[in-house]
Amino acid sequence: MRAATASAPGKIILFGEHFVVHGNPAIASAINLRASVEVVEAEGGVISLEGFIGDNPASSAASYLVKKLGYNRGLRLRISSQIPQSVGLGSSAAIAVASAAATLQLIGRKLDHRLLLEAAHEGEKVAHYTPSGIDTSIAVFGGAGVYTRSEGYKKIDMGLEELLVINTGRPRRTGDLVRKVREFGENNPGKFGEILDEAAGIVDEALRALREPDLEIIGRLMNRNQELLRMVGVSSEEIEEVIGECLRLGACGAKLTGAGGGGCVIAVADRDQMDKISRKLCERCQVMRVGLMAEGVRIEPRPGSP
Ligand code: PMV
Repeated sequence: MRAATASAPGKIILFGEHFVVHGNPAIASAINLRASVEVVEAEGGVISLEGFIGDNPASSAASYLVKKLGYNRGLRLRISSQIPQSVGLGSSAAIAVASAAATLQLIGRKLDHRLLLEAAHEGEKVAHYTPSGIDTSIAVFGGAGVYTRSEGYKKIDMGLEELLVINTGRPRRTGDLVRKVREFGENNPGKFGEILDEAAGIVDEALRALREPDLEIIGRLMNRNQELLRMVGVSSEEIEEVIGECLRLGACGAKLTGAGGGGCVIAVADRDQMDKISRKLCERCQVMRVGLMAEGVRIEPRPGSP
């Protein structure tokens, strides 16, 4: 039976989540945690995923390609992932992109980025309400960059190489939070407009600070971005507690990353403070020191292949 494996990175959003859904820019980076999907040719026309029932990003992305490219065999998929699920680290996008890449490889097509994004977007719809496309772009291209819905993903140079990711341990559904922000915007159009303008200004300033990197400015901007996210209703008690603790222990700044409502917090600090924060917070949360600007999607060698 023919088979192929591909992997893609998770991501963190440094600035601008949610506002990106409404046309604003956001800055995100691929992280050094990856999801792999193995795709094996199977009898019949069925696409199945080991240990998983119902709609999911991996099989939706593969089904989209199979239909589009007129492939008439079945596929058996298997996922292995280092990315915690449903906590804002782009796990579903990484799985959808890896699945699409492995499927293309198995079918004998080259890794066309446009096709990967298209297929992964279908996969993402399972977990999201109206995905902006930022997660799938990062999973495909890797590195760090600015994303807007109108212009897509543009890579940037970033001097910031690592930060802390703290998992509050509370999973949530991205779609519910995206819907909540949309409702806030509909009910408070004037206020929402002001928030979007300020969030766009933060992204502009952050681009310079990230290049340097100037941890103090990055931290200050993260704190302000967090206030805006709080205003639109996507923070939570757990998030605020973790952020408060990070700041007390010497972080320059901290904010939620991804959809919020639980999920992960990111914090920037110099190396010594990072150690201190990790030691303290790991008593009650999962704390990861995460490398940024990781490689985008790639085909993995098969066991036994040269
Ligand atoms: O929580 P995540 O990793 O699914 O992040 C979603 C980011 C949002 O801006 C909230 C939604 C989107 O599609 O851009």
